[in-house]
Amino acid sequence: MLRICVCVSGGGTNLQAIMDAIDAGTITNAEIVQVISNNKNAFALERARNKGIAAKAVSPKDFENRELFNEAFLACLDAVNPDLIVLAGFLVVIPPAMIEKYEGRIINIHPSLIPSFCGKGFYGLKVHEAALARGVKVTGATVHFVDAGTDTGPIILQKAVEVLPDDTPQTLQRRVMEQAEWQILPQAIDMIANGKKVEKEGV
Ligand code: GAR
Repeated sequence: MLRICVCVSGGGTNLQAIMDAIDAGTITNAEIVQVISNNKNAFALERARNKGIAAKAVSPKDFENRELFNEAFLACLDAVNPDLIVLAGFLVVIPPAMIEKYEGRIINIHPSLIPSFCGKGFYGLKVHEAALARGVKVTGATVHFVDAGTDTGPIILQKAVEVLPDDTPQTLQRRVMEQAEWQILPQAIDMIANGKKVEKEGV
């Protein structure tokens, strides 16, 4: 059984998709042992608690500096020693020590087709604003392993989504979630949990 820790910052619809997929049996051999948020008010924490899953906030605001926050965050992860860490809308720069310790065991969902609209400053709605500003006709989502860079790790799964003429960043975000993110994130977890081949070497 793959023991998963899910890291979240906001609404937690991707967390919900993972919990639903476990319930539905489309993810097998996996359980969520802990949900951690950097934001005490994240609705994602409530989603986890409603399911009886351990949920904890570790907020940078409670620490004097970034190093102390990073240490506390890592200690929280180490306490559960997960097999897999899933960044599901986790909008915090990942502490280097965490990447060093868990490299190959951290995956992230990003709301674009990497390498478009990714890297520093591209998160949440900003990604969809940039896609609309550029006038792309197709966007999508990517699940990838996390390495020391920002959105640079080996890609596991991608799914394309059409951009429609009247899209706003909000309508596009919703379609990318519904048609791509909520499908490929659970799918990637199921692949990892069941030892299916996932590309870790990059291109
Ligand atoms: C999702 O769209 C996710 O892809 C994005 O934040 C949103 C979180 O929504 N993540 C990033 O932009 C990471 N760079 P959720 O809290 O409802 O799952």
